[in-house]
Amino acid sequence: MTQKPNPLSSIKVNGPIPAHLARSVIEETLRSAILDGRIPCGTALRQQDLADLFGVSRMPVREALRQLEAQALLNVVAHKGAVVAALVQGDATETYELRILLESEALRRSIPLLSVADFELAARYIDELETEHNYTEIGRLNRLFHMALYSKAPNRRLLRLVEDGLNEEERFLRFNLEAMGLGKLSQEDHRNLLRAVEARDIEHSVKLLEHHLNRGVEVITRYLESSAAQGKKIAR
Ligand code: NI
Repeated sequence: MTQKPNPLSSIKVNGPIPAHLARSVIEETLRSAILDGRIPCGTALRQQDLADLFGVSRMPVREALRQLEAQALLNVVAHKGAVVAALVQGDATETYELRILLESEALRRSIPLLSVADFELAARYIDELETEHNYTEIGRLNRLFHMALYSKAPNRRLLRLVEDGLNEEERFLRFNLEAMGLGKLSQEDHRNLLRAVEARDIEHSVKLLEHHLNRGVEVITRYLESSAAQGKKIAR
């Protein structure tokens, strides 16, 4: 049996961290390590290990972990503490069904309040996506594009739930866009969606969004099936 590498060994800490920045530095560092897969799903993060690694007390560590939990990147599990959340929690189809409900509603409420500046911002993200080849960046730009369209929805709690869903998708995209060759297709979806939003055609916009997210369901389902098959192969 080979020894598992310590997932925290991928994290570089540059010198002492000023106390007032500790929480945000720890949060950002762990967040990007989780998002790009250096700390794999299911890894338990011990507060003391992190405090030692960052050279801080446990208090900012605890606060950072709480933030990451609120962003659905960690789950608190009895007897294990903070554990890196699964890539897709539970059933992918249910996850996307819920996202379609939430994002459609956010889009509906946001469209009448969006400004020309919002349209321009969304268009800029599409342009950046066009030339971006780094999958970490692609995942981030996709989230920002979607949030730009929903951003004027007045219900803040709704927007937070929407952003949780997008964060989850962002993680997925980072791992799998390359393998699935999905980039081009989503760009067409994004352009069509933005055009309908600019025309303030709410019903058509929602229909295009549903179509876009349903494509995500197919891709994720295909991925989960293939990785389950892969897992069986390895187990044998
Ligand atoms: Ni998208």
